[in-house]
Formats: sequence, structure tokens, C-alpha cells
Amino acid sequence: MSTTKAVRENYREDVAGRANVEDTPELLAYYDELERLDTAPLWTVANKIEPWEPKSSSVPVLWRYRDLREHVLRSVELVSPEKAGRRVIYLNNPGRKDDAAAVGWLYSGLQVMHPGEVATAHAHSASALRFIMEGEGAYTVVDGHKMTLGVNDFVLTPNGTWHEHGVAAGGSACIWQDGLDIPLVNTLEANFYVVHPDLQQAVGHPVDDTSHTWANPGLRPAGADWAKGYSPLLKYEWGPTYEALARYARSTEGSPFDGILMDYVNPVTGGAVMQTIGASMQLLRPGEETKAHRHTGSVIYQVAKGRGSSIIGGKRFDWQERDIFCVPSWAWHEHANASASEDACLFAFHDLPVMRALGLYREEAFGDNEGRQKLS
Ligand SMILES: [Fe+2]
Ligand SMILES: [Fe+2]
Repeated sequence: MSTTKAVRENYREDVAGRANVEDTPELLAYYDELERLDTAPLWTVANKIEPWEPKSSSVPVLWRYRDLREHVLRSVELVSPEKAGRRVIYLNNPGRKDDAAAVGWLYSGLQVMHPGEVATAHAHSASALRFIMEGEGAYTVVDGHKMTLGVNDFVLTPNGTWHEHGVAAGGSACIWQDGLDIPLVNTLEANFYVVHPDLQQAVGHPVDDTSHTWANPGLRPAGADWAKGYSPLLKYEWGPTYEALARYARSTEGSPFDGILMDYVNPVTGGAVMQTIGASMQLLRPGEETKAHRHTGSVIYQVAKGRGSSIIGGKRFDWQERDIFCVPSWAWHEHANASASEDACLFAFHDLPVMRALGLYREEAFGDNEGRQKLS
């Protein structure tokens, strides 16, 4: 039975406490009998399914914006929004193509919309965010809250919310990065998708009311209640974010691994912006080179400002504004700002809220070579 033989790779390890059973004719016949009953002996696969440490099937990838941009814009000529639903070029990690994942259990794509276009309102179980890369006039409506969006702003469209995107008629072609947990929700076999019965939803609040209500530092509207699993703020603007990083940098040495790093939070709880996806913005000071660390959880970075490089799993990736790169779970990574005079900013989103909620978060500093990887 050649098919069973392929499945029955024997992952033996000659280590106390690990499975190490050699194949014999008698055992192979026994394994065949087990297979007919839709069962199998654990000791042939135990070392594979319980690795000593996480083994990501994702590989580190850098997606250069200057390579992708023209292809993203070309989709406008080739497919209509009516037919395609959304014109998105998604980031397809070579190790994760079966799940359309950019890294780990995260999906990411670049979406383009022209002035006057509006996408159909819909809701899904996956949680999403958009990070605006270029263009003017972009907006998103989430459960009746309309939010105007500029470059480097990001907006949430959480699990279960009605949402739609558009670009104002007087705007310009807009490109943004979509980030979702689609692969995770599909793996959990919990994904639903609904198109809004009216195709569009009504705006039921003053434009940008979530910012007016929830984006006032250190202040919470008296009596305002919010118990949902995501941030009521929904939109996070670049201006105040950059200012916060610059202010924080005046009073901290920063993290040895990330420089000046701030998490976007739910203003009610102080926790992550959504249940499954967290986000942060970090600032690398001129010439800053961080030390390497690794942790469980997958991260997608988008260069919001500046240029530099990251070493991920021993490989160097040079990035500039608008480039996107990923760090797979448990991969060593360190970042460097290539400019001696300008700061560099990296937006990131990740599944660390999932890791933390499930008790799976673990982090480790790179001990050798003064905390820096050697290039492989
Ligand atoms: Fe959506
Ligand atoms: Fe990290």
C-alpha cells in the first residue's frame, strides 16, 4: 500500500522520552490493519506533530511596493468591482499558498479603488483592518459610523460588523493594505459571510464620530458604555500616532528589540484593538539598530516612513516606504534604520492577542553575538 507508506513516515528520534520505534514486518502489517479502521499509531508521528519548538511553514518575505503598485493599479482596467467584488492582489507566502496566507494564519492584500466607487456592504466572521497607503478621499463605514481616511491611517472592520469601503468622487485612486484573520477563522471552521440586504448601509452618525468620542487622550466620555470585543474607536490616525511616538521617545530608551514601540489599543480596556488581531506602530531613531528576539505569533509589517533593513531568520531584507514584510512565528528578527538623520516608522499587525488569550505567547532574546544574528 504505497499511499499508507507515504503517510507512514516514521519520525524516529534517538532521545529519551521521544518515539523511536523501528519498522518491522510485523509492525507494518499491524499499521495496515489500523489504517483500515481509520486509526494509526501515535509513535510513528509523535515527534512530527509535537515538535520541540514551533516550526513555521511560512517563510520571511519582503513585498516591494515599487514592484507591486503597477500590478495593483492594472486590476482596475482588467476587472470591474461588480464582478470581482473587491480588486485585491493578495500576498501569497510561498509556504502558505494552500491557505492564501501572507504569514501564519494572517491574510493580507493590496486593494485599489477609484474615486466614486463604493464596495458592497457586508459582514463576516473574520476581523479586518485597512492601512491606507496612498490616495485621497478613502472612507469606510462600520455599523453606520463613517470614517474618512488619509495616508497611514488605519481602520478596523471587526468580526460581525457591517462594513463597506469607498472613495469620494472628488478624491484620487486609493490603495490600501487589508489585513485579516481569514486563514485562522477558516482553520477554526467558523467563518460566515453575509452581504447587506440593501447592498449599502445608511450612515447613522456624524462623520468621524468615533474619533470625536473615543480619541481624546486620557479622557473617556462620561457614561459611555462599550462591552464589545473590539475598540469603539475604529479609526487610528497617523498624525496623533506619530506625535505620540515622538513624545514617548523623549522620555524612554525604548525597547532593545523594537525601538520606540506603541500598541494601538481599545480605549475602554487598554487591550488589543480586536480579539484576534493586534496592531502597533514603532519608531526607529536615526541610525538605530535593534537586537534580535523571537516570539510565538506572526507579524506583518508595513513601512510607514523611512527606509532600513530587517534581518529575519538570518536573512537580510532592505525596505523603504510602503514595502511590506512578514516575520513568521518563532523566527529571529531585528530591525535597523538606514538613515542617520531621519526616523523610520513600521506599522505592524499580528495575532499576538490570540497567542496571549490561549496562553501560547513566548518570547526569547537572541543571546549570542551581542544579540545580533549572523547572516546566513
Ligand atoms: Fe470585509
Ligand atoms: Fe518582535
